[in-house]
Amino acid sequence: MRTQVAIIGAGPAGLALGRLLEKAGIDNVILERKSGEYVLSRIRAGVLEQGSADVLDRLGLGARMHAEGLTHHGVDLCFDGDIQHIDFTALVGRHVTVYGQTEVTRDLMAARAASSLTTIYEADEVTPHDFDGARPRVTWRKDGVTHSLDCDFIVGCDGFHGVARASIPERALTLFDRHYPFGWLGVMVDQPPVSDELIYAHHERGFALCSMRSMTRSRYYVQVQEGERVEDWSDQRFWDELRRRINPQAAASLRTGASIEKSIAPLRSFVAEPLRFGALFLAGDAAHIVPPTGAKGLNLAISDVVMLGEALAAFYADKSAAGLDDYSRRALSRIWKAERFSWWMTTLLHTFPETGPFGRRIQRADFDYLRASKAAQTSLAENYTGLSLAVE
Ligand code: APR
Ligand code: PHB
Repeated sequence: MRTQVAIIGAGPAGLALGRLLEKAGIDNVILERKSGEYVLSRIRAGVLEQGSADVLDRLGLGARMHAEGLTHHGVDLCFDGDIQHIDFTALVGRHVTVYGQTEVTRDLMAARAASSLTTIYEADEVTPHDFDGARPRVTWRKDGVTHSLDCDFIVGCDGFHGVARASIPERALTLFDRHYPFGWLGVMVDQPPVSDELIYAHHERGFALCSMRSMTRSRYYVQVQEGERVEDWSDQRFWDELRRRINPQAAASLRTGASIEKSIAPLRSFVAEPLRFGALFLAGDAAHIVPPTGAKGLNLAISDVVMLGEALAAFYADKSAAGLDDYSRRALSRIWKAERFSWWMTTLLHTFPETGPFGRRIQRADFDYLRASKAAQTSLAENYTGLSLAVE
C-alpha cells in the first residue's frame, strides 16, 4: 500500500489535516487505534476561536456549526464574587463559537467517510519506520494481520500518549513540562446554562467554570485537589461547591440536576521541540498540551494542521521544501503564545498550595488591573479569540 501522507490519529488534528490535504489533492491515509464510536465518546472542551471556525467553513464543514453553535461575544471573569465582563466584540471586533469538540470531530468524520480516502480504525501497534531516511513507512496490525504503508511523510496527530513523538530519538527532542497540583472535576447536565456566556471564577476554595454545550445542556467545572476521586463527589456536593465559588447572582439562578457525565481531568503544560524529525511531523496534542483554562487545545490543533497543510501543499505543488523546513518554527511561535496565555489564566484563577497571602494579593491585583485597564482587557480578548497565524 502507498500514500503521500500517512496520518497517525483520527482526533480533530488528524481528521482536519486529512481534509485539508484532500482539498489540496494530496492523498492520505489515517490510522487510528480506537473505533470511531470510541473517538466520538470522548468529552472535551468546546470553544472555537474565530479563526478555527473560519477553517471549518473553508473545509466545507461549517453548516452544523453555524446552525447549532452559539456565538459568544465575551466572557465573565469573577474574583471572590466580583465580576468583570470582557467584551470581545467591543475590544477586538471578534467573537468565539461554542461548539463541542465532539461535534467538530463528528462533522470531520462524516466528511472523511464521504470521501474516497482510506481511514483505518482499530489499527493496533501502529509504528512509524525509516522516517530519517528516504523511504518512510508505517506498519500496523489489524485482525491479526500486519500491514505496511509506504509514504512520503508521516504526521503524528496521535495525542499526548501517542506513538509518533515516542518514536523520535530522545536526544533529538527538548521537552518542556509543567505540572499543576490539581485537576478539574467536570459535570455535564441537561439544564439551561446559568448565564448567556462563560463564567471563569476564582475563589479562595478554588477555581470554577460555568460553560455550556447548548441552551439546554450545561458544562460546569470545579478545581479539585490532586488525588481526589469522582466517587467522592456526589452531585449534591458538586453543586454546593460550585455555588460557593461563583458570583452570588449566578449561584442564585443556577439550574442543577442529575449529572449525565462526571470526570476529573489533570492539568498540564507541555511542549516538545522541534515538531519535525526527518519525514515525521508532530501536530496537536502529540506536540503540546495546555491546561484547559482559555480553551486553547482544540484551536492549537487546528492552527498546527493549517500550517502543516499549507507547507505540504506547497511541497507537492512547487516541489518547495521551504514551508516544511519552517513548519516547526512557525507553529511553535504560536504554540508558545497560547501556552503563555493558558498558563496565565490558570495562574490567575486557581488556588495553588504555595499561593500564600502574597500570592493571593498578586492575583487580586491582576484581576483589579484587568477591571481598570482597557489595555489588559484587550490583551485577554485578543488571546482568547485567537492570535493570527502569521509569525511575529
Ligand atoms: N496509534 C494510532 N492512533 C493513536 C495512537 C496510536 N499509537 N495513540 C493515540 N492515537 C489516537 C487516539 O486514539 C486519538 O483518537 O490519536 C488520536 C489523538 O486525538 P486527540 O487526543 O483528540 O488529539 P488531537 O487530535 O491533537 O486534538 C487535540 O484534543 O485532547 C484534546 O484538548 C485537546 O482539544 C484538544 C484536542
Ligand atoms: C468546556 O465547555 O468544556 C470548556 C470551556 C472553556 C474552557 C474549558 C472547557 O476554558
